Amino acid sequence: MASTASTVNVQTEEELDEYTPAKLIKALEKNGITAGDIKKLQDAGYYTVESVAYAPRKDLITIKGISEAKADKLLQEASKIVMMGFKSATEIHQTRANIVYVTTGSKELDKLLGGGIETGSITEIFGEFRSGKSQLCHTLAVNCQLPICMGGAEGRCLYIDTENTFRPERLVAVAERYKISGSSVLDNVAYARAYNTDHQTQLLVQASAMMTEARYALLIVDSATSLYRTDYSGRGELNARQIHLARFLRMLLRLADEHGIAVVITNQVVAQVDGAASMFGGDQKKPIGGHILAHSSTTRLYLRKGRGETRICKIYDSPCLPESEATFAINADGIGDVQE
Ligand SMILES: Nc1ncnc2c1ncn2[C@@H]1O[C@H](COP(=O)(O)OP(=O)(O)OP(=O)(O)O)[C@@H](O)[C@H]1O
Ligand SMILES: [Mg+2]
Repeated sequence: MASTASTVNVQTEEELDEYTPAKLIKALEKNGITAGDIKKLQDAGYYTVESVAYAPRKDLITIKGISEAKADKLLQEASKIVMMGFKSATEIHQTRANIVYVTTGSKELDKLLGGGIETGSITEIFGEFRSGKSQLCHTLAVNCQLPICMGGAEGRCLYIDTENTFRPERLVAVAERYKISGSSVLDNVAYARAYNTDHQTQLLVQASAMMTEARYALLIVDSATSLYRTDYSGRGELNARQIHLARFLRMLLRLADEHGIAVVITNQVVAQVDGAASMFGGDQKKPIGGHILAHSSTTRLYLRKGRGETRICKIYDSPCLPESEATFAINADGIGDVQE
C-alpha cells in the first residue's frame, strides 16, 4: 500500500502523532477505553479521537459491540481530549493566520485566492469539459509536496479518480518545472480509481487510516459527482442521491477538519433550465449537486475557457473572498500564468 512508502519509517505512537494534527484513537486508552473497543472503532473507520468526538451518538451505536452506554462514555471521554466548546475570536484569528495555502502554479490565480488553495477546507472546482479542472488537480498533486517556502504544504497527495483521466506523466512534467525528482513526486501520490458511489465513499475510510500513517496535505476527488449521475440516473432517485452525496461530503469535511488537509473536488456543469437565468442574460450553466454541494464546499471556483490555452477562474462563492476573476494558462508543465 502506498501509505507505507520507503521514505517513511513508522515507529512509535508519538512519532505517528506528528503526521496529523489529529489525536490518534489510541489516546482514548488513557481515559479508560479498552483496547478491544478501540479496535471496534477502528474497524468501523474511526481512527482519531476527533472522529469519535464529532460523531453523532446515533452513528456510534450502530457500530458492532458499542452499546448506548458505551457510546455515551466514548463521547464523554473524547470530548475531554478534543476541545469542542467556545473559543475567543482572537484565537480563531491567530489559527487562521497560520493556515497554509497550496500554490496553484499561477501567480494571478494565487492572488485571486488569497494565496492559493486553502488547507483545512473544501475547494470545489467546477466548469465545462476541457476547462482545466483535471489539469489543475494534477498540478496541485505536485505543488502540495513542495516546501512551505515554495508555496507547498510539505505533504503527500491522495488522488481519487472517477473518470480515469489521471495521468502520472503530467505530474512528472510539473515536477521538472520545480527541478524535483519525478519518481519521488509519484511515490508521494496515492492513487485510487473509484468505480461507484459506495466505493468512492469506502475509499475515504481508507484515506482516513492512511492520514494517520503519513503526512498528507491534499485529497483530490476528480470528479466528486460523476458517479452520482450514473448510479442515480432516474428521476425518482434524486432524493437518495442527495442523501448519499451529503454523507460523502460530510466525510470529506471531517478529513479536512481533523487532518488539516486541503480537499479539492471537481464538478461538472449543466445547462440551467429555469427561465430566470436566460431572461437576465446571465450565465446559463450551473454546477450540479444542488444545495447539498453548495453548502459543503467552502470555496467554489468556476473555470471557463478563454483564448487558446488560457482559462478564466471566477470565485463563485467564498466566506472571505470577493466575487472576482483571474486568467491563467494550461501549459505543458502544468498550470501557470499567461505569457504576454
Ligand atoms: N500536456 C499538455 N500541455 C498543455 N495543455 C494540455 C496538456 N494536456 C492537456 N492539456 C489541455 O488541458 C485541457 C483539458 O483540461 P482538463 O482535462 O483539465 O479538463 P476538465 O475540466 O477536467 O474536463 P472534463 O470535464 O472533461 O474532465 C485541454 O484543453 C488540453 O489542451
Ligand atoms: Mg477532468
